[in-house]
Amino acid sequence: MSSTPRTILICSGKGGVGKTTLTANLGIALAGEGVRTAVLDADFGLRNLDLLLGLENRIVYTAQEVLSGTCRLEQAMVKHKQVPNLSLLPAGNPRMLDWLKPDDMKRIVELIKPQVDVILIDAPAGIEDGFRNAAAAAEEAIVITTPEVSAVRDADRVVGLLQSQGISPVALVLNRVRPKMMANQEMLGVSDVTDILALPLLGLVLEDEQVIVSTNKGEPLTLNGTRSPAAQAYRNIAKRLRGEEIPVPDPSELNRGFRARVRDLMNKRIF
Ligand SMILES: Nc1ncnc2c1ncn2[C@@H]1O[C@H](COP(=O)(O)OP(=O)(O)OP(=O)(O)O)[C@@H](O)[C@H]1O
Ligand SMILES: [Mg+2]
Repeated sequence: MSSTPRTILICSGKGGVGKTTLTANLGIALAGEGVRTAVLDADFGLRNLDLLLGLENRIVYTAQEVLSGTCRLEQAMVKHKQVPNLSLLPAGNPRMLDWLKPDDMKRIVELIKPQVDVILIDAPAGIEDGFRNAAAAAEEAIVITTPEVSAVRDADRVVGLLQSQGISPVALVLNRVRPKMMANQEMLGVSDVTDILALPLLGLVLEDEQVIVSTNKGEPLTLNGTRSPAAQAYRNIAKRLRGEEIPVPDPSELNRGFRARVRDLMNKRIF
């Protein structure tokens, strides 16, 4: 990695579209490739990045104590035992929302920077103060949305705000893709979303119930070598973020079932 740490905001506008899940999986995937990664929970109202990473029992201090000078950053950063290159700075108390300012977030990020290659900032939903605080400390952004009209509309607002704050580059992750619904035009297609948002596509993540199972266990999919479609998608997002040129597959390709793939293999052997 370059010597200048990258600070990447993970944001969406609409709530519940997969920001925290992406932050956790991407953090593990990057760290697994040797990238020193910090994930920063900037969702002070509803923090749950610690839960998704299975680190909730290891939290002693939070960003709040770091800012007030009660503890040093090193005391608040929680290191992942299985993934030593990954650490989490938990969000503080929701009451912090009353006084937290963009400059506070900048201070935290400046403190973390010397220790890592990448900082992923998990933004809260919405476009209000919480989002603005999170964005203040970021230089790049990943906007995540589902292929639903309301989510894409909210993402579009966020893209406008990111541009006005000079955050660049901004890339898109399309989450909870259901290829059959897309093929039947019951859902916005990939190009519909990329056209509306005018962003380069960093990755597609299929609707995958393993994501929900892993969330509940506090073991992100990228933690264990699982080959589920979503796990592979998160790993590829990490690789593309690092500059590897891996084409984003067409959803119809991802949708092909196991049998179809076996049939293809057999055909190749026969002919
Ligand atoms: N690809 C996916 N397939 C299936 N379920 C998913 C997928 N991505 C996320 N989910 C589920 O969607 C729910 C919301 O995800 P998550 O908490 O990451 O969203 P969020 O954008 O961070 O929400 P919030 O705005 O509340 O912070 C979780 O239950 C998660 O397991
Ligand atoms: Mg979240």
